[in-house]
Amino acid sequence: MAFTYFFRDIQIIDLAVKYLLEGFKSKVRIWDAGCAMGQETYTIAIVLAEKLGYFGYKNNVTIYATDREESPDFGDILKAGEYKKEDIDRIDKPIFDKYFKTSDRVGYYKIADYIRERVIYQKHDLLTLEPVARDFNLIICKNVLLHFQPDERVKVIKMFYDSLVTGGIFATEQTQKMPPELAHLFEQVSGEGQVFRKK
Ligand SMILES: C[S@@+](CC[C@H](N)C(=O)[O-])C[C@H]1O[C@@H](n2cnc3c(N)ncnc32)[C@H](O)[C@@H]1O
Repeated sequence: MAFTYFFRDIQIIDLAVKYLLEGFKSKVRIWDAGCAMGQETYTIAIVLAEKLGYFGYKNNVTIYATDREESPDFGDILKAGEYKKEDIDRIDKPIFDKYFKTSDRVGYYKIADYIRERVIYQKHDLLTLEPVARDFNLIICKNVLLHFQPDERVKVIKMFYDSLVTGGIFATEQTQKMPPELAHLFEQVSGEGQVFRKK
């Protein structure tokens, strides 16, 4: 089972959303690559909903969530948006109360429908080097690239570059550095995190 949790690496997600919204015109397309069971995807969604409000989020945000699925139920969990109490224990109460409700399944809580409805899940292996779509404004790929060989990492980040709009944002975890071969393609927009803008 993939290790992940709600609000993991929240500083990176906050920074990525901040720089995304600086260039915000209307619609934003996001790719959460290596999303596991959706905790990261719904964290990104909640951060955006907090900034944009109900209609701003509902009318403007599309999030592609993809994973190669180490376990066959990743997609089912993400699409249902249902999590056990221990999965959501870390979430601050005001955010929990605003975005989760009790589910028909005993002991489970369900993410708000309007949040879930803007998420498209697709089973996808990044090493195919085929993007799930194009013209993304933000791609987040955290705690995934470290599993790849250095040459695979370069190819996958280049695929992200090709799938972003000019000025689009790419964010990864703090310990992941931009390969020198690709450094000329991006500017690092924040000294505080691994957040890059496509030149
Ligand atoms: C440690 S989890 C990270 C989850 C989330 N991104 C986070 O930061 O909490 C790593 C995820 O990467 C996925 N993964 C690993 N190799 C992949 C590949 N080649 N293509 C797509 N997903 C992959 C795994 O299935 C797993 O869900």
